[in-house]
Amino acid sequence: MPQIKVCASLACADLLNLERDLRAMEAAGIDYLHIDVMDGTFVPNLALGTDLLRAVGRATRIPLDVHLMIERPERYIETFHVLGAQVLTVHQEASIHLQRTLAAIRGLGMRAGVALNPATPLETLRYVLDDIDLLLIMTVNPGFAGQKLIPSTLGKIADARALFEAHHREVDIQVDGNVSFENAVRMAQAGANWLVGGTSSLFMSGLTIAEGARQLRTAAGAA
Ligand code: DX5
Ligand code: ZN
Repeated sequence: MPQIKVCASLACADLLNLERDLRAMEAAGIDYLHIDVMDGTFVPNLALGTDLLRAVGRATRIPLDVHLMIERPERYIETFHVLGAQVLTVHQEASIHLQRTLAAIRGLGMRAGVALNPATPLETLRYVLDDIDLLLIMTVNPGFAGQKLIPSTLGKIADARALFEAHHREVDIQVDGNVSFENAVRMAQAGANWLVGGTSSLFMSGLTIAEGARQLRTAAGAA
């Protein structure tokens, strides 16, 4: 059974009190800091650039899991390596020579992730299965926090887990978007093991990050 990891979505933290939130994430045992880099082209939103990442990387020991929601991500592989990314995820839809991009990420010692938008079939990854360490299944359309789960993505998670098992590959399956405590149960049941917590869980108003993390782990464990 793949290990459950709780990833905190940096875009959903309190940017004016980031240091306080980072300490709270560390105390809560957050496994990865999930950083959504948005270019205003691949997704409509602009968010989280390299300067912020540099500052955050210096301020915490939580490993950095970088999700590039940008066109032609291959241009920035070296940049994010230098900034300390341990996991670097690119979108299938954004990289024409995907195999080369994934090999370049691994070549620098990072774990290679691929993200799929809700409308993108799993089959697009058929010939790069051996090049992937992590599959990010977007459970909402990327770009904004606070959206609702797209139900068909649950079936995609289950199909992905079955595909990796058939290929005898232990690939982590990450889910991003509306990972609420209720949805986390269904996502983990379907085979997801890396959960990105945003406004639906870890950064929900009225809840501490520690309590959110505890509830997310309980939800995933209940699956
Ligand atoms: C989508 C974002 C969100 C983010 C926040 O582009 O990446 O999925 O993590 O999660 P929620 O949906 O809980 O606000
Ligand atoms: Zn993300």
